[in-house]
Amino acid sequence: MKTIRDLNVKNKIILVRVDYNVPLKNGKITDDLRIRASLPTIQYLLDHDAKQIILLSHLGRPEGKTTPELSLSPVTNALRKLLPQTKIDFCPLPTPDKPLKIPSGTKIALLENLRFDPGEEANSPNFIQNIIQATGATAYVQDGFAVVHRAHASTDAIKHFLPVYAGLLVESETKNLNAALEHPTKPVLLIIGGAKVADKQPLIDKFAQKADHIFVGGKIAADGYKSNNPKITIATDFDENTKGQKLDIGPLSTGKLASLVTDASTIIWNGLLGYAEDPAYATASTITAELIGEKQAATTIICGGDTTGFVESLMHDHPNLNYSLVSTGGGAALEFLLGKKLPGLESIEK
Ligand code: 3PG
Repeated sequence: MKTIRDLNVKNKIILVRVDYNVPLKNGKITDDLRIRASLPTIQYLLDHDAKQIILLSHLGRPEGKTTPELSLSPVTNALRKLLPQTKIDFCPLPTPDKPLKIPSGTKIALLENLRFDPGEEANSPNFIQNIIQATGATAYVQDGFAVVHRAHASTDAIKHFLPVYAGLLVESETKNLNAALEHPTKPVLLIIGGAKVADKQPLIDKFAQKADHIFVGGKIAADGYKSNNPKITIATDFDENTKGQKLDIGPLSTGKLASLVTDASTIIWNGLLGYAEDPAYATASTITAELIGEKQAATTIICGGDTTGFVESLMHDHPNLNYSLVSTGGGAALEFLLGKKLPGLESIEK
């Protein structure tokens, strides 16, 4: 992979595709993992004297229309707090009749939500060429790991106009996911939870050969998931609410999973084991996350939006917990693990 270390960034204007598709509640960012994860690349570019960094991202699915509640503007302040020494400004998207206005002295400019323009999702060369011209950028860094599975103008068409380099987040995510895919240290354990069998079955199928054990919990197990594969352990007991809804896996199954975790050297976890939004049903997920996070010398990968959000907040309260990778990629991490071709990565292979 060509990375920013292969690029002489000094005095260059650089476009960086990040994924700031962060959860917002009443205009406030409720989880800033993706913003913090973009800092190593930004810091590298600052330390190596890039002239200007132009950050490109989408937020939500505005379908080509300006949608004020999906503006990226709240991310500007979050970035300013994380990089207090740097002049950071927010700029509307340029169009052929509305040129880009970056205030003088700006080191980092965050452009408005790319998906406000239909050209982004249409993978339009004109749309991205216009941004390149307006900014004067001469290199492009792909660091939005969570969006590399989309063939959009800022992840795909752009490669025809600028040299492409991977940022440090994309490098670290792909390295860690590859470590689990190619020659993983055995025993390999895949833990599957969550609600939708259709989303998870391809992962179970993919790892049916590779993994030594697959544990299935969450709503999938509660809804009666079945398999004859001897490698697959399905949760059998559940904590129920007064209406008889099975909302967490029970102590027997949690114990079985705990011993699989203890024995494993490579662990991939996708999907919560219960309805962990409610602390009363977060027991199995908490025990599992703690056990995995306390493991030394194991490759431990957490992926899927709900699972990473859960583990992140646990890490906040328990800084001793440590994982090889808490992936920023929901769909992208899944598609990577399934071995699919990802448009946003294709052009950075050396
Ligand atoms: C994500 O959150 O998975 C990425 O930002 C991609 O978003 P999308 O599914 O709306 O393309």
